[in-house]
Amino acid sequence: MQESTSLDIRLIPTHVAIIMDGNGRWAEKRHKPRLSGHKAGVDSVRSVVETAREIGIRHLTLYAFSTENWQRPPTEVKGLMKLLRTYLESELRTMLKNDIRLFCLGQQERLPADVLSVLNMVMEETAQCGGMTLNLALSYGGRNEMMRAVRDLAGRCVAGELDYHALSEEMLSNRLDTAGQPDPDLLIRTGGEHRLSNFLLWQSSYTELYFTETQWPEFRKDQLLEAIAVYGSRQRRFGKTGAQLHVE
Ligand code: FPP
Repeated sequence: MQESTSLDIRLIPTHVAIIMDGNGRWAEKRHKPRLSGHKAGVDSVRSVVETAREIGIRHLTLYAFSTENWQRPPTEVKGLMKLLRTYLESELRTMLKNDIRLFCLGQQERLPADVLSVLNMVMEETAQCGGMTLNLALSYGGRNEMMRAVRDLAGRCVAGELDYHALSEEMLSNRLDTAGQPDPDLLIRTGGEHRLSNFLLWQSSYTELYFTETQWPEFRKDQLLEAIAVYGSRQRRFGKTGAQLHVE
């Protein structure tokens, strides 16, 4: 792995989250089946994961399959699951070599048994890797994630284990799939749409948003570096004034 020298390390976001949109349109524009867009998208995943690790991003979260994506035509869902499985199988060695831990956000239990088994295997094998955490959001929806957390808290209140007056933001955060990980600093969406599509709704309250027209299959190293350069030029105030930030 090569070290990047041109980026200011202080301006590298700790956690980058990406909505990888535009695979279908990329393929359709080329008169190819949608699945070939997803295939090309896997090469972008490889490039972005490698670059993220190289430049010192500590958490990278990729929105690979949403709770709503189950409604797509069965052939597309099947094709995506197969791509995911082959990606995981082929990437284990690289993840270990590059000290990358794989983690999953979402309702893993809804995934096909063969995908789930490879996913669990890669998560176990990489559990001790500390260079970067790669979160794959699979069968993930922000509202669903929050509902699961709320249900857990409500159940504990009913059981008398928790007093509802004592409920806090931290307690909810600790029950989300991202528990223990920092909120994203930068959220990138490719493909030209300007929305969150049920992605990390709780966690992105102060996240910097970056939208690009580039379709996901064309989003590679240079495009990630460009997004990070834009992030580095932003002033994050977290509700404070600019003057307050200069004093601290
Ligand atoms: C959105 O594009 C993309 C997806 C729903 C799937 C993303 C999956 C991959 C990039 C490949 C598999 C993932 C991994 C981690 C190996 P779209 O189909 O909605 O595009 P469109 O808006 O142009 O139709």
